[in-house]
Amino acid sequence: MAKLIINEENKLGTIAPEIYGHFSEHLGRCIYEGIYVGEHSDIPNVNGMRIDVVEALKELQVPVLRWPGGCFADEYHWKDGIGPKEKRKKMINTHWGGVVEDNSFGTHEFMELCRQIGCKTYINGNLGSGTVQEMSEWVEYMTFNGVSPMAELREKNGSREPWKVDFFGVGNENWGCGGNMTPEYYGNEYRRYQTYVRNYDPNQPIAKVCCGASADDYHWTEGVLKTCYDHTPGDLHGFMDYLSLHYYVVPEGWEMKGSSTDFSEEAWYKTLSKALYMETLIKGHAAIMDQYDPVKKIGMSVDEWGTWYTCEPGTNPGFLYQQNTVRDALVAGITLNIFNKHCDRVRMAALAQMVNVLQSVLLTEGDQMIKTPTYHVMHMYRHHQGATLLESSLTNVEPVGPDEWVVPKVTESVSENEQGIITITLNNLSVESVEKVEVQFARSGYQVVEAHIVSDADMHAHNTFEAPETVTEKVFAGYEVEPHGLNVTLPCNSVVEIRVAR
Ligand code: AHR
Repeated sequence: MAKLIINEENKLGTIAPEIYGHFSEHLGRCIYEGIYVGEHSDIPNVNGMRIDVVEALKELQVPVLRWPGGCFADEYHWKDGIGPKEKRKKMINTHWGGVVEDNSFGTHEFMELCRQIGCKTYINGNLGSGTVQEMSEWVEYMTFNGVSPMAELREKNGSREPWKVDFFGVGNENWGCGGNMTPEYYGNEYRRYQTYVRNYDPNQPIAKVCCGASADDYHWTEGVLKTCYDHTPGDLHGFMDYLSLHYYVVPEGWEMKGSSTDFSEEAWYKTLSKALYMETLIKGHAAIMDQYDPVKKIGMSVDEWGTWYTCEPGTNPGFLYQQNTVRDALVAGITLNIFNKHCDRVRMAALAQMVNVLQSVLLTEGDQMIKTPTYHVMHMYRHHQGATLLESSLTNVEPVGPDEWVVPKVTESVSENEQGIITITLNNLSVESVEKVEVQFARSGYQVVEAHIVSDADMHAHNTFEAPETVTEKVFAGYEVEPHGLNVTLPCNSVVEIRVAR
């Protein structure tokens, strides 16, 4: 039996709500169809945004949304997406499927979407193919409250009041699709571009996100930080607030990728082992950040994470549409537990992507919408948002899986909110056996407030438009309360949340 020891006297820091963020790119059917259907659509909408999707996202308590890309961001020219829709420029989305982008979803629409969801805004600027002036004018357009050419243009387009830009990414994947730059070259470009991302309202400073590495490219992290710290007095506060990291779980590698629904037990463990690798990556990049920024002023923003499979048969390969099974629920549970445990450095993240692309929380088909297993995990885990991470550790955890892809059977994280409610999230990674976990608190007298589970004995289980409720969040009763803790029985393939209070 595994043992989870929780020391609620030792509070380790705040879990930034933004760790539970999302990403929406002009890619496939994420924005168009998935979120935005236009004001004249038969699909029920408010100002063009699907009501079903917005309602589901509100229930998730989405803290922040990143837009417009991704690779799309470094080819996006924001002025194409403002003004009367019929006059907006049409372009080819060269990265994603070669389809026509009519720019009907632009800055005003994104701000409206965030207003409806009630989340913070994370705009990703174009450094790869855009100019400093273009980036600087976008910031002026969105945030300046006064008399200026861009503020007047915004008013002419229907928004007298400026918006709040909470986070601004200065380029995306500039080591690849964002310009194929070297770390030193990007570091210098970052220095220049970010200078003109002005804080027009000193009471609402924009947090700047510098483009970080892909996976284990530590050379990039080192080179960018060295360049940015060179000749820069003091710390980089206000110059660089976050450094990003992108990491995808690709079971069979980039050539083959692997099916989202038709996979072997070996592929199950391979996928979960690759998800666990996130912790190694965070530690590796954080160690480099620690050398430059020992007091941790710069947050790590893992603003693209999730599974990447072979797209569904019969769909446009450039649309990255994939199904989502119990395996994805485990990937989400494992990854979010890792983020929680590293909340001293990981202060933002974004699941890729929100609707109809990669490890989505929602899938749509016409006027239908379904929630994926990943949605239900993020819904349970929302209780960690803004809570305090508590010291916790597992002992006596059995290894499971084939030699090359062996994983610990259980992972966990524990937090406490302002009302003193403790949220414990546990995952059983085994496809074949239950696991009993003895949970021991430092104090006694806890009662269970609520408990939920996302699980299915069939590792391939997923939701379809015909059967949308196959894998959902259910009430969990597999525990017994003891004077100093709990005895929990985790079914195989499970993500569990237990909330207790005294
Ligand atoms: O999320 C899909 C793509 O993956 C993004 O556009 C890019 O940033 C990354 O390579």
